Amino acid sequence: MTKPTPTKVEMEKIVSLCQRRGFIFPGSEIYGGLSSCWDYGPLGVELKRNIKQAWWRAVVQERDDIVGLDASILMHPQTWEASGHLKGFTDPLVECKSCHLRWRVDDLAGDSCPSCGGELTEPRLFNLMFKTFMGPIEDEASVVYLRPETAQGMFVNFENVLDTTRKRLPFGIAQIGKAFRNEITTGNFIFRSREFEQMEIEFFVKPGSDKEWFDYWLEERFNWYVKLGIKKENLKLRQHMKRELAHYAKACYDIDYLFPMGWAELEGIANRGDFDLVQHAKYSGKSLDYFDEETKEHIIPYIIEPSAGVDRSALAFLCDAYDEELAEGELRVILHLHPTLAPIKVAVLPLSRREKLVALAKQIYADLRQSWMASYDDAQSIGRRYRRQDEIGTPFCLTVDFQSLEDEQVTIRERDTMNQIRLPIAELKRTLQAKLEGEDLFVLPPGGRIWKEGESV
Ligand code: GAP
Repeated sequence: MTKPTPTKVEMEKIVSLCQRRGFIFPGSEIYGGLSSCWDYGPLGVELKRNIKQAWWRAVVQERDDIVGLDASILMHPQTWEASGHLKGFTDPLVECKSCHLRWRVDDLAGDSCPSCGGELTEPRLFNLMFKTFMGPIEDEASVVYLRPETAQGMFVNFENVLDTTRKRLPFGIAQIGKAFRNEITTGNFIFRSREFEQMEIEFFVKPGSDKEWFDYWLEERFNWYVKLGIKKENLKLRQHMKRELAHYAKACYDIDYLFPMGWAELEGIANRGDFDLVQHAKYSGKSLDYFDEETKEHIIPYIIEPSAGVDRSALAFLCDAYDEELAEGELRVILHLHPTLAPIKVAVLPLSRREKLVALAKQIYADLRQSWMASYDDAQSIGRRYRRQDEIGTPFCLTVDFQSLEDEQVTIRERDTMNQIRLPIAELKRTLQAKLEGEDLFVLPPGGRIWKEGESV
């Protein structure tokens, strides 16, 4: 069998859709925007929430070997000495002597400025952490940093979690939260920004079992994206070369996605060895070891870290879901988002604005909102309304027509196939639940039937 060819969409189409429909806006737009800062609009916030919820469900709720944490963004400054970020979290930078733009050495193909062709300075190291001050006095003693990764909050709480949950190895801590990096080169929309969200797991294992757990997490995390609809051919695993490895990592793979600008990192999975617990024990003077009941020995666990970005995941899910086709001579834009991720699960569309019909449609809408994010749209033709929902990835549209007033039935239309079924209102919630969980549209509830568009009742 031949492997399907990877597909990619142009970034402009994604950016334009996101702005047009309220997924993502440029940050502080009325002031001209703030470089590489993005605001998630009404649909974007739902998409992000769904991504985070799906991740939390897969790694915390459905497992009994991982617990959650929500650590503070500001951490004791010694954290960053211990972690190596103060010394090691630097990018070599060069500056153009003519236009003064700065570039990451890693990003340069030649030895002149990519913007004006000018001569470049020698590389200088630049720390990526954002600095701020705690308290009223802005001096060296009050410097704190915005965390550049959520990971450290989990390492410094290792003993707290161990003592309070009585977990035994192997076990993990999971966290979702903001991270900040004063990136030199940002861009490609939300791919690389200075403020972003991470979803990280620190999985503590016995030394010697780390290779096996590393392989386990590679597979587990790759499959998570596939289960949520990303096409396999648009994902690949890439092993880090020795020179690419972060200062803490023994081994690292990236899950790369075929973004519009090419293959790039979506998630990193690292074997951090015992680096973090050894370092924090050394700097804090606290013991961060683990008593192994079997061997009666104190050991320092090794850590396997799957580290994903919420924003990069959102971009990958949007790019992968984007599709265009011609329907009745008009361009139909569709987001084939997995129902779990779709911002709106169902849209209620009354066929007319007549009072009686509106009353029934609004009643159904109010009822559906108790279970899902739903929307109500009565403006313009039904075709237009379907297109609007297709474009934002709503998996199901529900039409309420005059016949509904008599037979208490409504029509459900599926986004991807545009197939329709008609079913009793009394069966609606149960049926929608099943369809959102993946049941075929044509598995009909009692009293339901297949419906052709324009068919008379
Ligand atoms: N604790 C390990 C760690 O932070 P990383 O590879 O630097 O590893 C993990 O970051 C993930 O965080 C990346 O795979 C990416 O999804 C996301 N990420 C990192 N920097 C980012 C940035 N500047 N903008 C958006 N997402 C970013």
